[in-house]
Amino acid sequence: GHGEVEDETEFNYEKEGDKGPSKWGTLKPEWAMCGKGKMQSPIDLWDKRFLLDPNLGYLRSNYLPSNATLKNRGHDIMLKFEGVNAGRGITINDTEYQLQQLHWHSPSEHTINGKRFFLEEHMVHESKDGRITVVAFFYKLGRLDPFLFSLERQLKRITDTHESEEYVGVIDPIRVDFESKHYYRYIGSLTSPPCSENVIWTISKEMKTVTLKQLDLLRVSVHDQSNTNARPLQRKNERPVAFYTP
Ligand code: MLT
Ligand code: ZN
Repeated sequence: GHGEVEDETEFNYEKEGDKGPSKWGTLKPEWAMCGKGKMQSPIDLWDKRFLLDPNLGYLRSNYLPSNATLKNRGHDIMLKFEGVNAGRGITINDTEYQLQQLHWHSPSEHTINGKRFFLEEHMVHESKDGRITVVAFFYKLGRLDPFLFSLERQLKRITDTHESEEYVGVIDPIRVDFESKHYYRYIGSLTSPPCSENVIWTISKEMKTVTLKQLDLLRVSVHDQSNTNARPLQRKNERPVAFYTP
């Protein structure tokens, strides 16, 4: 694993707090990148900087239905995949990345031309040699999201209790079908400690929709004063953002 932090008391999103985003890099030596990294995430995705990259193609995925457990990590709600079928995922530049977990940030962490969205989903994948890639989706308010709807019963059981878990059964993560999808691509980091870099980001331009009720269900998991689990925007430092259009 890439050392995900599971304890909400270790860091939070309070702007002026001792454990807020501007302090993450000083809280533990292993988290230094959060403060001094030059390729941090999230960033604003700004049209004028996009390069149309002919080397990008549609994302090949081979997800399989897997056993999944929903967990309240205090700073977010995570769906963790496990079991014999777990571990299928996507292929980028001939490297296979296996789906480990997905989770949500509200409001969105990335922005497009400065615009922030209600919700952002991160599907975290890892290769055999420990490289990480995240596939992200924005949500706007609208129709019910069927995937979140299918998790509603278990979500309600874990929203109040940090570290609580609910086995949800076999979940099919096929929802990533990039064949006809536009996406942004850049190299960044994890958006929470340890903020490890060289993370390949793939951010769908096509958005999902979510109802206010569904959004609230996810948001109650964030118990600190800030009522957010979005890390502030980070410096781009001349990093190019590529755009794939089918
Ligand atoms: C991220 O998307 O970078 C995450 O929030 C890291 C994690 O899964 O803990
Ligand atoms: Zn995330």
